[in-house]
Amino acid sequence: MGWNSWNTFATDIDEKLVMDTADLFVTLGLKDAGYEYIVLDDGWMAKERDENGNMVADPQKFPNGMKALADYVHDKGLKFGLYSCAGSKTCAGYPGSRGHEYQDARSFASWEVDFLKYDWCNTENLNAQGAYETMRDALAKAGRPILFSICEWGNNQPWEWAENVGHMWRVSGDITNCWDCEVDHGGWSSWGVWKIINMRENIRYAAGPDHWNDLDMMEVGNGMAVAEDRSHFAMWCIMASPLILGNDLRIANTKTIETLTNSEVIAVSQDPLGIQGFRVSNKDSVEIWAKPLFNDAWAMTFVNMSDKVLELHYDWHDGVVEDKLNDLKLEIGTHRYTIKDLFQHKKLGDTSRKLEATLDQHDVLMVLLEKKEEP
Ligand code: GAL
Repeated sequence: MGWNSWNTFATDIDEKLVMDTADLFVTLGLKDAGYEYIVLDDGWMAKERDENGNMVADPQKFPNGMKALADYVHDKGLKFGLYSCAGSKTCAGYPGSRGHEYQDARSFASWEVDFLKYDWCNTENLNAQGAYETMRDALAKAGRPILFSICEWGNNQPWEWAENVGHMWRVSGDITNCWDCEVDHGGWSSWGVWKIINMRENIRYAAGPDHWNDLDMMEVGNGMAVAEDRSHFAMWCIMASPLILGNDLRIANTKTIETLTNSEVIAVSQDPLGIQGFRVSNKDSVEIWAKPLFNDAWAMTFVNMSDKVLELHYDWHDGVVEDKLNDLKLEIGTHRYTIKDLFQHKKLGDTSRKLEATLDQHDVLMVLLEKKEEP
């Protein structure tokens, strides 16, 4: 859980932004909610390496250097992350780490960096698995624990090889702040929330503690409707995706912060089993997803995909909610589960009766189901 500069700021970043963000992590309750990493994306480095080939921070944007900034973030009880790229240049044209992997890893470790996002632009004929393994080994040699975030957009199926290479890997091209659109940039596209959710079928098997499918930094607070933000957040939690904020915390409104700090929803994301959720059904404009949790509990989301208000009548006996991969099933026939609405924070009875709810356009009902003790 953390924050990354890219979605809102692109390369327009500086040390004040990081310090403000670290302060706001504490004052807005984000730190208490579990957000920890503050990550600078592309554009933090000077346009050229120094005379010894070292990657250095842009002296205008970061006059006090990266170690001082990392110290500031650490003093708040938070962690600090940086970005680099496996290619010769980053996507925005700054120096990449190709051919400098061990040297750069040593620099990052000496600045006490805790997280590295590693991109895939300008890689020409590089082999993806090999390139990411090289940086993994370089980080290990540098001797500091650094979370390694793989960002090759899912082009080389990292879910098939990256479990022992990185801690998380992007599964798509870049997210953009819309519900279900594709934005064509000529040669590449960015993707709305539901485009990303629907992009990869059947890769949930690859996710688990310390090796996650990464659905990209979130767009909560970046212009979608409050209901859409809520659904977006709920789905990232159901999917056990890393939760990386992508908004400007200095102007975040209370609704945004309320969504992002909802501790019961976050608990679904951070559940110790670490199982990525799955689609139960999508009919009649309702997407239904489920995630098995510790202690025989389940979380479920019901998302209104239509642009009208919708009345939900969900009969628990209608179909089977089954995670075939993990051999887990909602045992509706033999047990009752209590139901709690995790956004309204209220109890909704139990599974002996239909689930009835009114869902606004693109809104979500997210529930926690807990097995009742049998009499
Ligand atoms: C893209 C990456 C984005 C961002 C950007 C920086 O390749 O997917 O998340 O890091 O590069 O240039």
